[in-house]
Amino acid sequence: MCGIIGYAGKENAVPIIVDGLKKLEYRGYDSAGIAIYGVDGFDVVKQKGRLAALEARLVDRTITGCLGLGHTRWATHGEPSDENSHPHLGSKNKIAIVHNGIIENYKRLKERLEQKGVRFASQTDSEVIAQLAENYYNGDLLDTVIHVMNTLEGSYAMGIMCIDDPDTIIAVKKDNPLIIGVSEHGNFMASDVPAILKHTNKVYYLNDKEIAVLKKDSVQFYNIDKESLEKSLETITWSLDSAEKGGYPHFMLKEITEQPKIIQDTIQSALKSGENKTIIDNINIKSFNKIVITACGSAYNAGVVAKYVFEKLCRISVEVELASEFRYKDAIIDEKTLVILISQSGETADTIAAMREAKSKGAVTLSIVNVVGSTIAKETDFCLYTAAGPEIAVATTKAFSAQLVLLYILAVNFAAKLEKIPQETERMLLAEITILPDKVSNILEHVPYIQMYASSCIGYKSVFFLGRNIDYAIALEGSLKLKEISYIHSEAYAGGELKHGPISLVENDTLVVAISNCGRLNEKITSNVEQVISRGAKVLIIGNRTDIQQNEKLSLISIPEIYELFSPSLSVIVLQLFSYYVAANKGLDIDKPRNLAKSVTVE
Ligand code: F6R
Repeated sequence: MCGIIGYAGKENAVPIIVDGLKKLEYRGYDSAGIAIYGVDGFDVVKQKGRLAALEARLVDRTITGCLGLGHTRWATHGEPSDENSHPHLGSKNKIAIVHNGIIENYKRLKERLEQKGVRFASQTDSEVIAQLAENYYNGDLLDTVIHVMNTLEGSYAMGIMCIDDPDTIIAVKKDNPLIIGVSEHGNFMASDVPAILKHTNKVYYLNDKEIAVLKKDSVQFYNIDKESLEKSLETITWSLDSAEKGGYPHFMLKEITEQPKIIQDTIQSALKSGENKTIIDNINIKSFNKIVITACGSAYNAGVVAKYVFEKLCRISVEVELASEFRYKDAIIDEKTLVILISQSGETADTIAAMREAKSKGAVTLSIVNVVGSTIAKETDFCLYTAAGPEIAVATTKAFSAQLVLLYILAVNFAAKLEKIPQETERMLLAEITILPDKVSNILEHVPYIQMYASSCIGYKSVFFLGRNIDYAIALEGSLKLKEISYIHSEAYAGGELKHGPISLVENDTLVVAISNCGRLNEKITSNVEQVISRGAKVLIIGNRTDIQQNEKLSLISIPEIYELFSPSLSVIVLQLFSYYVAANKGLDIDKPRNLAKSVTVE
């Protein structure tokens, strides 16, 4: 849940590492730090708070060196503080490390080291790695790292430097992401591609328990038995611009506006040509008797949308499970179950565990992932990539939209293979999917109105999102978006549930957002709207409705007409913009909401 970067090269490592940390800050922002191999050994500067606070401290320091590590932290063990920030040094100042992950046996190891007289400087689990490495160090850093890896239990991506080795960083990983980048001026390790994209688009993906030894002009790979490995160099297709704000005030707004292109690219990859199409065509849906979708957060919400679409079009039973629940519930699945894992990062700990649980029970796994080479992408039987490019804002927008589109295409493909829809319907459905980018662009033309409406909503303490059927599914995402970035309490309910409890919460100070795109259920949602208005609520309807008379209590944001099951792709754009502008009007840190991190790689 932290971001790490390392550089071994010919240039000053400080600006390179600090700039890389800026791109990784979405992974955690409780503290940041750097360790540079300088003229007098390790120069370490670390600071509680945002990266900006570290940068401010670096202004008066003249640190230079061509080898260094950097870290941005999302605290797990030990509160956010200067001492608990990374990099951590062993007490003899011989070893410096940065770590992303959790060391499960750290207490036992710490006790053992303390009995030997080692004094710890922090409350973190990570410091044990530096202390252990110093304790094992025998003059050979590679041997030492292997010894450490064999002792640690838990997850880690880490970079290690040794005072006796001014040219070398050793990078290793287990259950947390780490890539190795090679450029003309030096070599990198990093948690994610955007951190190094400015310098290179050539990367190696490290597998679990593999070791990379980085020097300024070489990278060598080993397995845990110290045998040399050959790995293939991959080229990243993400552009440098995609990881920059490009004039927008926040990444989130930039990413919202990128959606027509992202949806277009995703459709292209799955319908026209490209690897997604080949994979989808190769899935034999007839060999399964049920589908289970499992994911976390927004990706789970995409799964709830998909359940309605798959069940309606394919007439196949679909269960949607939160990955954190699925992994422990002893699910009833077997080789006749297709388990679909949805994850932007491909590194979410609960989703990885759910995937491994599904595989252990013989189910066939299909993932929908954004980050190429991520753990879920690599370990599932089939992987479809969303063409969203790097998503930097913590709150997902464009990756979610790309997930929806892939799920629709999958549903239409499966329905056709299962002979549940005639060819003519298949053609009609694909045409409706193909037109989505234009319809999303059309909504984006109405940003000023959505912005104006949102600016009048910043005072609400509570917002309820209502919908029925597919509108309920997307109401879940609307509610999650609002709460995570605006800190306004929100809940999503199926319209029919309102009378079974939630209506007791409706009062004068309540806003209800009703999604309404299900033709045959529009009257029912209208009746829910009347019920809450008569109890004092104000209502915003988002939908393709021409029959709504707006008044002081009732507003409408219209969305273009589209095949009902695909309407979440349009409603969600309004919901994202609404949440964005509420949070922007409150002056909040939209791209890095409090307590959150983009990649939840710990349980
Ligand atoms: C919400 C959000 C999170 C993620 C969730 C799963 O805006 O971004 O709820 O959807 O943490 O993350 P991934 O998709 O990386 O598995």
